[in-house]
This record gives sequence, structure tokens and C-alpha cells, in this order.
Amino acid sequence: MYRRRRARAGIAPALIALAACAAPADEDRYTAVADMPELMAHVLEPNAQVYWRAVGWVIDAEGEQELRPETEEEWLAVENAAFVVAEAGNLLMMDGRALDDGPWMTMSQALIDIGRRAVQVAEERDEQAVFDVGAEMYFVCTQCHATYALETLRPSDERAQAAGEGS
Ligand code: HEC
Repeated sequence: MYRRRRARAGIAPALIALAACAAPADEDRYTAVADMPELMAHVLEPNAQVYWRAVGWVIDAEGEQELRPETEEEWLAVENAAFVVAEAGNLLMMDGRALDDGPWMTMSQALIDIGRRAVQVAEERDEQAVFDVGAEMYFVCTQCHATYALETLRPSDERAQAAGEGS
């Protein structure tokens, strides 16, 4: 009887040690490279810009011109940019980056959701939808900035661009 108890007591700490090995803390699994302004200026902003500039209308000497991806390569670049924006939502949720467990997570998830739709409509080669989803993406960016980065607010304003160039 006494021996059996001893034996069990020995197994428990071993199991706990095993569990700790199997599930390392999140911070131990990855290495964040960009700080928050860098992640915004080097990952979010340039890829969102590719998406926003893909479809639009310009008025020049020849009248109104429609901008749209013309080649498979150009469409692929739009898809790639949308994937980066979508996955960046996960980067924002990482321990060490997330500023809280509430609205920050909701808004990061909103970026993933709009990014997935951005991928989908690009894959469908639907330029009107790319334009519309781009506008919604812009709203997701500005909504988070309105809460956490009021000085940035509109991501492509001159101040934000200057900040991006400076880093
Ligand atoms: C979940 C919140 C969140 C979302 C979503 C978000 N941002 Fe930001 N963004 C921030 C925060 C916080 C800062 C301020 C960073 C700092 O200065 O510490 C910032 C700053 C920026 C800056 C200024 C960076 C600099 O160099 O100072 C740019 C540009 C930017 N964001 C672009 C974007 C774009 C484009 C999107 C959408 C595609 C986006 N952000 C979505 C939180 C967010």
C-alpha cells in the first residue's frame, strides 16, 4: 500500500514535466521581428496600398480611365497582398503585440475577416468587389487607429507616410 502511493507520487511530476514540454508558452514558439510601427509601415501599409491601387478610376487628358489588373501576374499581386493583410491580423494578436484581450482582438479578427474576403474577390477576378472590399478594409484600419493610434487615424495620410519612410 505504502509503495503504491510512492510510485504514483513519482509519476505525477513526470507527467507535469512532459505536459510542459508538449505545450511551450506562446512566447517561446516564435520571435517577433517588427515592432508595432514597423509592422504597420512595412507589412500592413504597403500591402493594403497594393490592394487599394489595384482598381480605380482616374481622369486625365483622355477622359476617365479605369484602372484594373490586366494580366494574371497583376491579379496574382493583388491576391498576394490580400493574403498578407489577412494573415497580419494573426500577427497583431500575438502575445507581446496585442494591446488588450478585448477590442484589440475583435479588430484584429475583423482584419482577418476582411482580408479573407479580399482574397476571395481577387480570386474571382471581380474588380468592382475588389474596390468595395478595399473600402471596407480601409474602414477596419481606421477603426483600430481611432481607438489605439489616433495620431495615425488614416493610414495613408501624409503623416503616416512620412512615419513609414522614416523607419
Ligand atoms: C488592431 C489594431 C490595428 C489595425 C487593425 C491596424 N492598425 Fe495600423 N496601427 C495600429 C497602432 C496601435 C499604430 C500605432 C503604432 C505606434 O506608433 O506605436 C498603428 C499605426 C499605423 C501606421 C503608422 C506607422 C508608423 O510608422 O508610425 C500605419 C501606416 C498603419 N498603422 C497602417 C495600417 C493599415 C494600412 C491598416 C489596415 C490594412 C492598419 N494599420 C490596421 C493598430 C492597428
